[in-house]
Amino acid sequence: MRQHIAAIIVAAGRGTRAGTGVPKQWRMLAGRIVLAHTLDAFRQAGVTRLVVVVHPDDLDKADTLRAPDVAIVLGGDTRTASVRAALEALEGDAPRHVLIHDGARPLLSPTVIGDVCAALDHAVAAAPALPVVDALWRGENGQVAAAVSRADLFRAQTPQGFEFRAILAAHRAHLGDAADDVEIARAAGIETRITQGADDNLKLTYQTDFDRAERLIAARRRDDM
Ligand code: CTP
Ligand code: MG
Repeated sequence: MRQHIAAIIVAAGRGTRAGTGVPKQWRMLAGRIVLAHTLDAFRQAGVTRLVVVVHPDDLDKADTLRAPDVAIVLGGDTRTASVRAALEALEGDAPRHVLIHDGARPLLSPTVIGDVCAALDHAVAAAPALPVVDALWRGENGQVAAAVSRADLFRAQTPQGFEFRAILAAHRAHLGDAADDVEIARAAGIETRITQGADDNLKLTYQTDFDRAERLIAARRRDDM
C-alpha cells in the first residue's frame, strides 16, 4: 500500500477526436469500461485513494465506478480546470503526494506508476516520457518547411506526480489552460524529473487507438496464461 498518495484521474473531456457519441473514457475496451482498466492499474500499484473527475452529463455512468476507494468530482471546461477541481476537493484531507493521470490512458502499468512514486522520494515532481524516435518536421501548407532536431525531445505521458502542496499552489497561481500539469509546475518554477514511459501507455485519441489497445490487452492476457 502506498500511504499518503492520491491519484486524480481526469475524465471530464468530450472525446471529440475519437468521435461516436459516448466519450472515449466511457466506452468498452476488452469487455470493460475504459476507466475501469485505468482505476485497476492504480489499485495494482497500491494506490488506494482515487479521485475521478467527470463531466456533469456523465454522472449516471460514474455510478458504475463507485467503490470505497473512489471519490467522484465534477470537472470543468478544460483539462486544467478539471485537475484544479480535484486538487481543491482533496485539500481538506491533503495527501503528501498526488499522481495526475489521463483517464483515457487505460494501459498504464504498475511499473510506470512505481517509477514515478520512487522518483518523488527525491524530487518535487516526476513524470514519465519517451524519447522521440521519428524525424521531426515543421510543416506549412502541406509542405516540409524545416527539419527539427529531435535531440533532447520527449513525448510526455501521465501519471505526472507532485508534492500535493506544490502543485496545488502552482495551479492556483496559473492563469489559462495548459497541456499538462508539468507545464503548470514549470511555470511555478518547479523542476520535474523524467522517468521511464511506456509505449503501451497510449492515450486513446482516435478510433484506431481502440483497436491497438484491444490488441495490447489480448497480448497481455496471453502472456498471463
Ligand atoms: N479532460 C478533462 N476535462 C476536460 C478536458 C479533458 O477531464 N475539460 C480529460 C479527458 O477526459 C482525458 C484527458 O483529460 O482523459 C486528456 O484529454 P484529451 O485526450 O484531449 O481528451 P478529450 O478532451 O476528451 O478529447 P478531445 O480533445 O479529442 O475532445
Ligand atoms: Mg482534449
